Amino acid sequence: MSRGRVALITAALALGLSACERETLSPEAQRGRQVYLGQCTACHASDPSQPGPVGPEIKGSSRELLEAKVLRGSYPPGYKPKRPTAVMPPQPQVANDLPALEAYLK
Ligand code: HEC
Repeated sequence: MSRGRVALITAALALGLSACERETLSPEAQRGRQVYLGQCTACHASDPSQPGPVGPEIKGSSRELLEAKVLRGSYPPGYKPKRPTAVMPPQPQVANDLPALEAYLK
C-alpha cells in the first residue's frame, strides 16, 4: 500500500473515531458542551482537560465546585483551588445549566 493511501485511511479512521466519541455524549452532556463552548471558552480551553488562555483545566469538576465557583466565585469548604487568583467573574446566567455542565465535564 502506498504511503498516501495509508495516511488517507488513518485520517478516515481518526475522523470516524472522533465522530463516535461525540455521539457517546448523553443529551444532557451535549447541552453542557454547548453551554461550555458558549460561556466558558473565552477563558478556559475548548478541550476542558487542557489549560485555557486564562483559566485552568476544569475537566472532572464536581457539582459542588461548579456551584461555588460559577455561581458565587468561591470554593467548596476544604477545596484546594488550582489557582490562587480570583480572576473569574461569577457566571450566574448558567445556574440552570450546572447539571448539564457537570455531565459534560465529568
Ligand atoms: C473571564 C474568564 C473566565 C470565564 C468566562 C470563565 N472562567 Fe472559570 N476560571 C477562570 C480563571 C482565571 C480561573 C482560576 C481562578 C481565578 O482566578 O478565578 C477559573 C477557575 C474555574 C474553576 C475552578 C477550577 C479549580 O479546580 O480550581 C471552575 C470550576 C471554573 N473556572 C468553571 C468555569 C465555568 C463552568 C465557566 C463557564 C460557565 C467559566 N469557568 C468561565 C476564568 C474564567
